[in-house]
Amino acid sequence: MESILSNAAHKPTYHNPDSMSIAIRQWTLEDLPSVRRVTWDTWLDAYSSFIPESDLRHYFDAHYTLDALTQLFHTPLMNGFVAEVNGSVVGYVKTKFNKEENRFYVSSLYILPGRQGMGLGGKLMIAAEELAKTLGADTVWLGVMTQNTPALDWYKRHGFAFVEEAPFTMGQTTVVHLIGFRKIRVAAKALH
Ligand SMILES: CC(C)(COP(=O)(O)OP(=O)(O)OC[C@H]1O[C@@H](n2cnc3c(N)ncnc32)[C@H](O)[C@@H]1OP(=O)(O)O)[C@@H](O)C(=O)NCCC(=O)NCCS
Repeated sequence: MESILSNAAHKPTYHNPDSMSIAIRQWTLEDLPSVRRVTWDTWLDAYSSFIPESDLRHYFDAHYTLDALTQLFHTPLMNGFVAEVNGSVVGYVKTKFNKEENRFYVSSLYILPGRQGMGLGGKLMIAAEELAKTLGADTVWLGVMTQNTPALDWYKRHGFAFVEEAPFTMGQTTVVHLIGFRKIRVAAKALH
C-alpha cells in the first residue's frame, strides 16, 4: 500500500492522527452491534443514491441481524478486524477464504463517513492481507458495485485489477458487482 499521505487531494477532510488513538484489532462478539451500526450508516451514505433505502433495509434486516452476524462470526474461515478511534469502532473489514474457488475474499470493508480518508481503510486492508498470507493465499479478491465509483477508484489506485462481473441483488434492486484482485505485498502475521 502506498504512503497514506500520497495523493491527498482525493479527500477534502483530513484528521490529525497524532491527536487520536487509532487501533486495528481482530473483531470480537462484543463488536457486532458496532459492526451493524457502521454497516447501516455507511450504506446509507455510499449506496442510497443508486439503491432505494427500502431495498438496503430489506437486505440489512435479512443479513445483518445480530443473530446472522453471530453465525457469521462463528463460521470457519470467516474473520474480521475492526478499526477503533479513541476506543470506539468506526470501521471494519470482513474476510472469507472460499475453499471451492480457492480465493481469499474481502467480503466487506466499511469506514463510517466521518472517519473516511484518514488511512483506516488502508490499515484494515493490510490486516486482511496479513491474515490471507498466513492462510497461504498470495492474492486478495473483492467485489464492488459499478456505481460505487469512489470505492472503485480507491481500489484501482491501490492496485486492484477488475476482471469479472456478477449480479448482486438487494431487495428489488440488482446491481453489477465488479470482481477484482491484487497480489498481496505484506508478510504473513499470525493471529493472537
Ligand atoms: C472505500 C473505503 C473503504 C476507503 O477507506 P478510507 O479509510 O476512507 O481510505 P484511506 O483513508 O485508507 O485512504 C483514502 C485516501 O486518504 C489519504 N489519506 C489517508 N490519511 C491521510 C492523512 N492523514 N492525511 C492526508 N491524506 C490521507 C490516503 O492517501 C488515501 O488516498 P488514496 O486513496 O489516493 O491512496 C471507505 O472510504 C469506505 O468505507 N467507503 C464507503 C463504503 C464503501 O464503499 N466500501 C467499499 C465497499 S466495496
